[in-house]
Amino acid sequence: MSASPLDMTLHPEVHAFFDEATNTISYIVRDPTSQACAIIDSVMDIDYAAGRIAHDHADALIGAVRGMGLRLEWIIETHVHADHLSAAPYIQQQLGGRIGIGAGIKVVQETFGKIFNEGTEFQRDGSQFDALFEDGDTYMIGNMQAFAMDTPGHTPACMTHVMGDAAFVGDTLFMPDGGSARADFPGGDAGALYDSIQKVLALPDGMRLFMCHDYGPNGREIRWETTVAEERAYNIHVGGGRTREEFVKLRNDRDATLDMPRLIIPSLQVNMRGGQLPPADASGKRYLKVPINGL
Ligand SMILES: [Fe+2]
Repeated sequence: MSASPLDMTLHPEVHAFFDEATNTISYIVRDPTSQACAIIDSVMDIDYAAGRIAHDHADALIGAVRGMGLRLEWIIETHVHADHLSAAPYIQQQLGGRIGIGAGIKVVQETFGKIFNEGTEFQRDGSQFDALFEDGDTYMIGNMQAFAMDTPGHTPACMTHVMGDAAFVGDTLFMPDGGSARADFPGGDAGALYDSIQKVLALPDGMRLFMCHDYGPNGREIRWETTVAEERAYNIHVGGGRTREEFVKLRNDRDATLDMPRLIIPSLQVNMRGGQLPPADASGKRYLKVPINGL
């Protein structure tokens, strides 16, 4: 067995794609020594009012992978997103690659399978994904070793993926002036989120951190990249040595004021299926449910 898979000398190329409709950042990460790449947290477009889906954002990712002559090996979800739909299966159809998520997906499927009253045909074993990562699991993107670490709190199945000197934190952290993501969804936990953030902040100072979301607080331009050192010093929720107790109170007080994300109902139904739409009925049509007072 090798020692820690941390390798700060490896500097993967990171291409960011901002989705204006959901403030999500998707990434193409390229192994510096081969043509291999991974896509992290892709977005499928939805006009929820019209019940219409589209693939403009995913097509931009696909076009970029092709344009750079890359080979897609992994399609990673940092967690089951509640604010946008994943385009993982659409991208896989066009470019191949394996779809991976944290093994905690089974807990999320159990929770939301109940909330959406899914029948027995909805498997709650993570089998919609090609790979289920456990804490510390390593995998290869070309010649580059990546590893996944459990960072629950925002959801029970959140993971941070580390590739050389770049870490993709999902919603475990926001930019320093954005703080952290909410921890009040089913299975979320502010104390667990604090502990997970400490794990991320224990990575080397110079580790580049890439956010899944940015909302441009106080009117600043959208940004998605920072470092461990910057977060440790300046993060408005956890920086400057704020205690666990202080964070939990701040997080829970703030979460009590937040509305549900606009796309939570379609997002969960699609993302818990690995980005697949619910199965078609006898007429061949597909529907999303709205549980009344169910969330
Ligand atoms: Fe999220």
